[in-house]
Amino acid sequence: MNINGGELFPSSSANSKETERAAELRSILRRANVEYYLDDAPSLSDYEYDQLFKELASLESKFPSLLTPDSPTQQVGYQQANVSNEAEAANYRVKVARFSPVQHREPMLSLDNALTPDELHQFFSRINSALSLSGDIELEYLIEYKFDGLAVELVYENGLLVLASTRGDGVVGEDITANILTIKSIPTKINFDKLSSTSKTLPSRIEVRGEVLLPIASFNALNEIRLKEGLPLFANPRNASAGSLRQLDERVTSSRPLEFYAYSISSPEPFPLIKQSDMLYLLGSLGFRVEKHEVIREVENIFACYERELTARDSLPFEIDGLVVKLNDINYQRLLGSKSRSPRWAIAFKFPPSEMSTRLLDITLQVGRTGVVTPVAELEPVIVGGVCIRRATLHNEEEIRRKDLKIGDIVLVRRQGDVIPAVVAAIPSRRTGNEIDFVMPQNCPVCNELLEKVEEDHVQLRCPNLLCPAKTLQRIKHFVSKGGFDIEHVGEKFISQLLENNLISAPSDLFRLEAKDILGLERMAEKSADNVLKSISAKKTISLSKYIYSLGIRHVGEQTAKVLAMEFGSLEELSSSTIERLENISDVGPVVAKSIYEYFRDPYEARMREEMKNLGVTVLSESVSAKAGDGVFDKQTIVLTGTLSNYSRDEVSKIIESLGGKISSSVSKKTSFVLAGSEPGSKVEKAEKLGVRVITESEFMKMIEDS
Ligand code: IVH
Repeated sequence: MNINGGELFPSSSANSKETERAAELRSILRRANVEYYLDDAPSLSDYEYDQLFKELASLESKFPSLLTPDSPTQQVGYQQANVSNEAEAANYRVKVARFSPVQHREPMLSLDNALTPDELHQFFSRINSALSLSGDIELEYLIEYKFDGLAVELVYENGLLVLASTRGDGVVGEDITANILTIKSIPTKINFDKLSSTSKTLPSRIEVRGEVLLPIASFNALNEIRLKEGLPLFANPRNASAGSLRQLDERVTSSRPLEFYAYSISSPEPFPLIKQSDMLYLLGSLGFRVEKHEVIREVENIFACYERELTARDSLPFEIDGLVVKLNDINYQRLLGSKSRSPRWAIAFKFPPSEMSTRLLDITLQVGRTGVVTPVAELEPVIVGGVCIRRATLHNEEEIRRKDLKIGDIVLVRRQGDVIPAVVAAIPSRRTGNEIDFVMPQNCPVCNELLEKVEEDHVQLRCPNLLCPAKTLQRIKHFVSKGGFDIEHVGEKFISQLLENNLISAPSDLFRLEAKDILGLERMAEKSADNVLKSISAKKTISLSKYIYSLGIRHVGEQTAKVLAMEFGSLEELSSSTIERLENISDVGPVVAKSIYEYFRDPYEARMREEMKNLGVTVLSESVSAKAGDGVFDKQTIVLTGTLSNYSRDEVSKIIESLGGKISSSVSKKTSFVLAGSEPGSKVEKAEKLGVRVITESEFMKMIEDS
């Protein structure tokens, strides 16, 4: 199959090469549509799909004889999946027959795509010429997000939600009312009261359209649970929302925190609306969730808007795959009308793809801090969503089997926002026959110990050797990471060197290091040794939640560590907790409770914590860190000057704030005290002039310890 397409010959009638290519494109696109609309499991990236679609459309417009009525370019939604092969057709009928059909009163159209600024300019010019407007007249355009979810229509009769349906083939969709009712952001009743001043005759029926989405955080959490339960993972949030909405059992849907963003009313005639943006305002006042949007009056402004949203995209809680540009004037929209599958007055200006294909060069193994052995995809580097991806976790052998991945395959790789880079699927049609099956080894790739099945999930394998060097390395990396002790200058290379030279064997040993130990190490001059030791010693005081996280207890991430710290307030309370008390904490299931309980009963671990204590590690109990209203520095304003030997500025600020104090940059009569380290600046003189107390670092430490 030629995914990238061939050169087009400038001839007026199609030759056999073009006829063949058009047929091939129709078939590739149809297959992709089946996978996208029916299987919720795509094997062609959106980007490649769009490219192939454009290629077919351009062939058809050059050679109209190639245009067939059932071409994917002429159809909408899963009508595009119109399949010729009988087995596929049967599969398709089964899937569509699960829900009752719903005829849309107004067809639910698709959108044309603009993949380049040039294509967007062509869209603007088409509108100007169709409306016979000279180039100087600037029309207003509304810019919205292009949500990457599932289009849904909600029908309200006399203010009550009576029917909800998917887009289906654009004309007939599926009845998903029961599932839609589980989505909290969808009003079951709409209130027209507030509108009485704007509309005289209120409609007895309105149809609201919008997109159902699964937020990225919920998607990641859902996949994490599915991984633990040995269920197939969803490829992306869109597939997860589609899969969640098309559940025959709406209790499953209700366990998935889906959201709905409204973007239009399909027959808005009864409302006195002039602009598309008024429609969004109306939807907002009717109680629907409406996302941020912008009206632009000069088309060039769209590019600044695009750049801005592209940068902001990664911090959005849900996925978008571009912007939708809509002519804002509804009368002009009516004048322009629609083509068979898309309106002439709107276009999707797509972002660079968040899914790309690349080659799976190898599958290597990584031993984690708890000994779990994870296969990792080594990929031919590929830029996805603005980031270069070379590796992605494959979770376990089962997942590799399910995705049918072979070494050497062309695979789809995906990344957007906070979604962890993932290998979505293999593209079997691009195999050459030289691909190799992956075989999971029986022994630890680092220490050669026989691997064991992880008891609670039966899919993961674990190295049981307590002294496996790979485990120790990962464990120490975790210990010094941002969520834990957050120690600067102690990276993977340095830890490996320490381990290789037998300078440390457990995280607590870091606090024992002296200059003479590390001076001989590679690239370790006096200055860098000094930096390393300073960073370590600066982090000896730590909050309880970060301390718990740093211990690397299985299943205890940052969030659980915070919950535990708040619940128990001190390490002593937590370590002596019963398993029942742990199980009773929301967010802590039986598996997590057992893991925490067992951790605190391990004598090796107890010794390590004891050593840390003896080496001066101070854990600030959460009741102290979270104390509101009665911290030692409550309502005090403190000024810092000079360099402290035990804390970084950041660290000391956090401690002061956690104990109720406020940091200020300048000394005034209102300053409670100045904390002065070595080489203090003029702030000390000023404090003395104003009669403000100046304290030393050791006095400060005493204040915290006494608190
Ligand atoms: S308007 C008549 N607005 O994109 C215009 N659609 O490719 C069609 N979509 O089926 C719908 N965000 O699922 C519109 N702000 C937005 C959208 C949006 C996402 C989806 C929708 C539609 C598909 C068309």
